[in-house]
Amino acid sequence: MRKKFLMTALLVGVLVFAAEQTVQQVQLPKPQISGGKPLMEVLSARKSSREFSGEELPLQTLSNLLWAAFGINRPESGKRTAPSASNWQEIDIYVATAKAVYVYDAKSNSLKPVIEEDLRADFGRQAFVKTAPVVLAYVADYSKMGRASQIDKDFYSAVDTGFISQNVYLYCASAGLNTVVLGMVDRATLSQKLGLKNEQKIILTQPVGYPKK
Ligand SMILES: Cc1cc2nc3c(=O)[nH]c(=O)nc-3n(C[C@H](O)[C@H](O)[C@H](O)COP(=O)(O)O)c2cc1C
Repeated sequence: MRKKFLMTALLVGVLVFAAEQTVQQVQLPKPQISGGKPLMEVLSARKSSREFSGEELPLQTLSNLLWAAFGINRPESGKRTAPSASNWQEIDIYVATAKAVYVYDAKSNSLKPVIEEDLRADFGRQAFVKTAPVVLAYVADYSKMGRASQIDKDFYSAVDTGFISQNVYLYCASAGLNTVVLGMVDRATLSQKLGLKNEQKIILTQPVGYPKK
């Protein structure tokens, strides 16, 4: 009887594990790092917008967006499109879609699965957030910030996020996408749903999508 129970428990465990593993890593196409609108036109067009058509972003556009946000622009040193204090590179970009949440891995230019669930509604408190096909979350990993004090970790991770967010604003302005950065996030709930470690802090989120026609 006990053996049968253990076998059943093992089988259920294997099935749950298999179900959790169905979402695959997504290899992004190489980012297109030439072209785009001239800088002054992009700055003229930069704005916050809270309306999204819901149309999916092509993988190429997502790749370009994430590279612009915080991709590697100097492969020889591994440095990025946005600066970071002490080159800590402590900000991870979580990417929520209708299918799953991933984390952007700049080195392999891929999206690593975090959870196979549509958590877009949890990436902000406002109703429009879940209408965007992609919602980014900027998550600081304080364990990458050396011996900095808590106050410095809070300060520098917020500042570093600002640069990344502005890169996203500028790419969106160039590519005809809508976006808005969000501070109004239920961080406790989202941290728990994403299974974040204690040292990981959600700083801001940012939905991205096409304008409504
Ligand atoms: C740190 C930060 C947090 C923000 N949080 C929110 C937010 O939670 N919800 C929202 O609708 N807009 C948010 N915004 C967007 C601002 O409302 C917006 O930038 C401002 O109204 C100026 O508009 P503009 O970006 O078009 O110039 C935030 C902006 C910043 C910089």
